[in-house]
Amino acid sequence: MSKMNAILQGTLNWVDERFPLTTLWKEHLAEYYAPKNFNFWYFFGSLAMLVLVIQIVTGILLTMHFKPDASLNASGVPVAFASVEYIMRDVPWGWLIRYMHSTGASAFFLVVYLHMFRGMLYGSYRKPRELIWIFGMIIFLALMAEAFFGYLLPWGQMSFWGAQVIVNLFSAIPFIGPDLSLWLRGDYVVGDATLNRFFAFHVVAVPMVLLGLVAAHIIALHEVGSNNPDGVEIKKKKDASGIPLDGIPFHPYYTVKDIVGVIVFLMVFSVIVFFMPEFGGYFLEYNNFFPADPLVTPQHIAPVWYFTPYYSILRAVTYPLFGIDAKFWGVVAMGASTLIIALLPWLDRSPVKSIRYRGPLYKGFLTAFIISFFILGYLGMLGPTPMRTIVAQVCSVIYFAFFLLMPIYSSLDKCQPEPDRVTSK
Ligand code: HEM
Repeated sequence: MSKMNAILQGTLNWVDERFPLTTLWKEHLAEYYAPKNFNFWYFFGSLAMLVLVIQIVTGILLTMHFKPDASLNASGVPVAFASVEYIMRDVPWGWLIRYMHSTGASAFFLVVYLHMFRGMLYGSYRKPRELIWIFGMIIFLALMAEAFFGYLLPWGQMSFWGAQVIVNLFSAIPFIGPDLSLWLRGDYVVGDATLNRFFAFHVVAVPMVLLGLVAAHIIALHEVGSNNPDGVEIKKKKDASGIPLDGIPFHPYYTVKDIVGVIVFLMVFSVIVFFMPEFGGYFLEYNNFFPADPLVTPQHIAPVWYFTPYYSILRAVTYPLFGIDAKFWGVVAMGASTLIIALLPWLDRSPVKSIRYRGPLYKGFLTAFIISFFILGYLGMLGPTPMRTIVAQVCSVIYFAFFLLMPIYSSLDKCQPEPDRVTSK
């Protein structure tokens, strides 16, 4: 052993006697046996971690120059809005940091939606992975809160009016509603107090929760082991030394595979950041390039694309019920449309996990669900018309039917038998 190696080994031993570094490395990487048949869909967990890091690093740099202040500067422009323009024009590389952060927000949702869809394709939420799914769902809710708080900060027209619409929704709750929305805003209108508290949530509170939840998500995953595209439990077939026959060490096999995903992702990400950061108004809405003006309501207020399916469900509820107005039931439907996803582990009664072995009923319902999710997303970007409202109502019914009827159709479905071992497909 060379002298250098001896010093490094000595240092590692010193650390290991005080902190389980080698044990952690082995348990979570070098001796974490993952199924050998991971495919394309398995890129998105590590990509979600990458985007989380990008958002935190660019967010810290933005915070160094951003000012959460709604008062007007000498030119009559809100200080917060002007500080974003300052980042874009005067801070060295500020435009890059800001565009990475704004593109990162959309990339985060895209990656997480694909990651969740993978879970639905392969039944990754089923026993024994219910808690991984629950942690994932709380991450998803925290991510939505994080995006909503962040969107107010540049204090543009859409920031202001979007927050106005969403906070006002809470006022539809009977009895406590008006007080609740006042408490959330910290004022009678969306104003400086709102901007300051949203800043605190966006920069400190929610990111801390997110990091903790991601750690819990991975710990839960490594406790039970990963699912795979066949939905076969690899721990059921082990060799003499207790290693799953269909398992391979995560490091180096999947660390190397994930790097391929990272490179492709960064290529696409860079093209958007450098050549089309507004992405046709989908990633940065045009109206948000105007400073917030409480006296001018934009003609059409629409959330960013990742919220539009739920926004459509909110608007699809147009009938009052039990003497309570439709707005309240819209809020209930919107809340239910996100929370119901958390129940999948208990709604799914299929004898198999993976879509590869499921029957036509599940495949049909999943296809109808995905199509209605896209239609709802599209309609949420447009202003409502009577025809669009009817289409949104039909799609909302399909959306909920996918979940509520699942105990029935998943148990009736004609599935193929699951193989004993993973296939090499
Ligand atoms: C910040 C967001 C998230 C991060 C960083 C993250 C990270 C990860 C990673 C690294 C894995 C292991 C690799 C993989 O299977 O792709 C994983 C697995 C998993 N995640 Fe997430 N995740 C996030 C959000 C979510 C959400 C929102 C859900 C669902 C509601 C979810 C559900 C799952 C499930 C079920 C697995 C196990 C998959 C399997 O073994 O087939 N995750 N996650």
